[in-house]
Amino acid sequence: MTTQTTRPSHALPLIGPGVDRVDGPLKVAGAAHYPGDFSFPNLAHAVLVQSTIAAGRIRRIDTGTAEAAPGVLAVITHENAGRLERGPAGVVGAVSPPPPLQDDRILHYGQHIAVVVAETIEQATAAARLIEVAYERTEPLLDLEDPRAEVLTNPWGFDQQRGDVAAGLASAEVRIEATFTTPAETNNPLGLFTTVAVWDGDSLTVYDSTQWPYYVRATLAVVFGVPESGVRVLAPFVGGAFGAGLRVWPHVVLAALAARRVHRPVKLVLTRLQMFTSIGHRPNTVQHIKIGATRSGELVALDHEGTSSVALEDDNIEPITIGTAGAYACPNVSTRDREVRLNIACPGSMRAPGEAEGNFALECALDELAYEIGMDPLELRLRNYAETHPQFGLPWSSKALRACYQQGAERFGWSRRTPAPRSMRDGRWLVGYGMAGVSFFWYQPPCQARASVSRDGTAFVRSAATDIGTGTYTVMTQLAAELLGLPLGRVRFDLGDTEMPPAPNQGGSGLVGALGSAVHAACWKLVQAFLDVVHDDADSPLRGCRLEDVTVADGRIHRTDDPARGEAYTAILTRHGLDELTADGESAPPQPQEIGMAPAGAFGAKFVEVRIDADLGLIRVARVVSAIDGGRILNEKLAASQIIGGTVGGIGMALLEETVSDPGTGRIANATFGDYLLAVNADVPNMDVIFVGEPDRVNPIGTKGVGEIGLVGIAAAIANAVYHATGKRIRELPITLDKLLL
Ligand code: MOS
Repeated sequence: MTTQTTRPSHALPLIGPGVDRVDGPLKVAGAAHYPGDFSFPNLAHAVLVQSTIAAGRIRRIDTGTAEAAPGVLAVITHENAGRLERGPAGVVGAVSPPPPLQDDRILHYGQHIAVVVAETIEQATAAARLIEVAYERTEPLLDLEDPRAEVLTNPWGFDQQRGDVAAGLASAEVRIEATFTTPAETNNPLGLFTTVAVWDGDSLTVYDSTQWPYYVRATLAVVFGVPESGVRVLAPFVGGAFGAGLRVWPHVVLAALAARRVHRPVKLVLTRLQMFTSIGHRPNTVQHIKIGATRSGELVALDHEGTSSVALEDDNIEPITIGTAGAYACPNVSTRDREVRLNIACPGSMRAPGEAEGNFALECALDELAYEIGMDPLELRLRNYAETHPQFGLPWSSKALRACYQQGAERFGWSRRTPAPRSMRDGRWLVGYGMAGVSFFWYQPPCQARASVSRDGTAFVRSAATDIGTGTYTVMTQLAAELLGLPLGRVRFDLGDTEMPPAPNQGGSGLVGALGSAVHAACWKLVQAFLDVVHDDADSPLRGCRLEDVTVADGRIHRTDDPARGEAYTAILTRHGLDELTADGESAPPQPQEIGMAPAGAFGAKFVEVRIDADLGLIRVARVVSAIDGGRILNEKLAASQIIGGTVGGIGMALLEETVSDPGTGRIANATFGDYLLAVNADVPNMDVIFVGEPDRVNPIGTKGVGEIGLVGIAAAIANAVYHATGKRIRELPITLDKLLL
């Protein structure tokens, strides 16, 4: 049985029990309702028509034949869509893409240019093919190096400087300079993004594939000029997202527009092909890194510039170099991000946006330095360990990266590595060991939650967060059960509905800390509410008790100094004639200077063994060990699943994933699961996960968030292992066998 007092987070157990997903039975039984599962008797279906050029204008769009086709209820184009406003800012100021169908301009291939609404999806699909479009083409901007393209410098204000990099580089005994490139990649959640929109007068209800119901609500209210209170957004289950659900995409607006036009509920499901241009992607990047160091491996200067592509009228955040300044103790550092505006579909976040690409360049460049000076790559990281936050000069709220390196190395058997390239072999296989370190950024947006205990002895806790498969339902149920001293089976946690208290995006690995802290606050306020009820109650053994005097366990509150003196929640409610008590809690991000600490995100060390066929260049990842400091781990099984899932994504990033566009037209050439290669079972080896460290001190539940760190560092560790195996330094992802044969 769980017990809980007002213990500080550092006194909590590091690793929580790996209980099964509380929503698992619903999912297995097909009873978990994803957006596409919501239906209505008079539901109509919307199908998108997308541009087949990347830049220019629509000269003529002929919808007459489509409008006359069987079952068609409406065809909406820029000629009849009406004015739609652009929605408000979301994550750190970034705005969702502009509303669709506002003029005749084409800004990218796959832009939505019409939506057809019909009685059935087959009728809508058939009619959509009858729309004829005449374009006036112009030459698209498709290349990061195109001199005509607009370049944005320091677009988010994240660039960082300390010391004098030029002087540091000039005086360094050793210099490394290298350019790294990463391709566009596409988020490929299995669940096709779906929006179901239902209007009732000026009130709108939307079921959506989103990571942030409140942002969808705020956006649709602005776009359609209706009060936020009249918009309800539900996302009880989302079939994966990986960042694709952090913004409000044009198809969501179009589903609502279509429903308003035909005065019926409308469902819009993106096709797999449309997913490649409609819900963001990881933009391609070019990064230049310069490192100056002493012969004994002390970093003297670090210069990191990252450039990514962005759409013409978009505002995506891809903070490539955000992790660099805080990663190592180095006196002279300059990091700079740039964006180049191109005629591409809007990029968006994809698991560890920016950080995944930036870490690849930084950790590969450090590997190059290690070879240059003849030092073990692990030793080089330890030599430059940042004991305090190197940019803020504050102690970390927690940091067990050294333990990640040491325990990860031990588990992996790093000491068996012979340093020279091509020095390890197993028959025809060249064997390579590679590693990388990860310092993930900290992110904790504000959040609210509500908790109730009712007379039947059950608790109900809720917040408008989402669970995109990460396990939010489960870990928040565990947390509330612990905080209220109730068995798991007597606690229900619900989410995904804007009728519930506001929650932030499930993104930036920040939801568990934000939401868990709000649940923590709500549960303690609820216990306080029970103490308030019995404050002057002569029949209560808790009369006059303060929160710090009590402990909760077994569905009751008791005096910490005398557990026999206490009573059950149900006894208090019954005696006072109450059905339930409810309390609201909220959490807000602390300011580093106020708490005197640098809030830490997760840390990690990744160790990889690759095997490469000496004749054919075929690459196999044989083993991965991830040692993670994620602060307190609420559920070992689900947290390990996050790391394993991230590792699979990292293997894909390293070896397989690349969204290929035709350089002349901007058409995506591999927008199917047959052509866009994802890591599948045969690509994925034994993935070992170790959790180390201690509960973090920033938030009361001690967590740091592990949704993204599993992916980061894998690409660098694989690239470094490939160098160790072959002596070939591949600075261009993905690492395909042709690059090894050349
Ligand atoms: Mo994540 S890419 O912040 O959902």
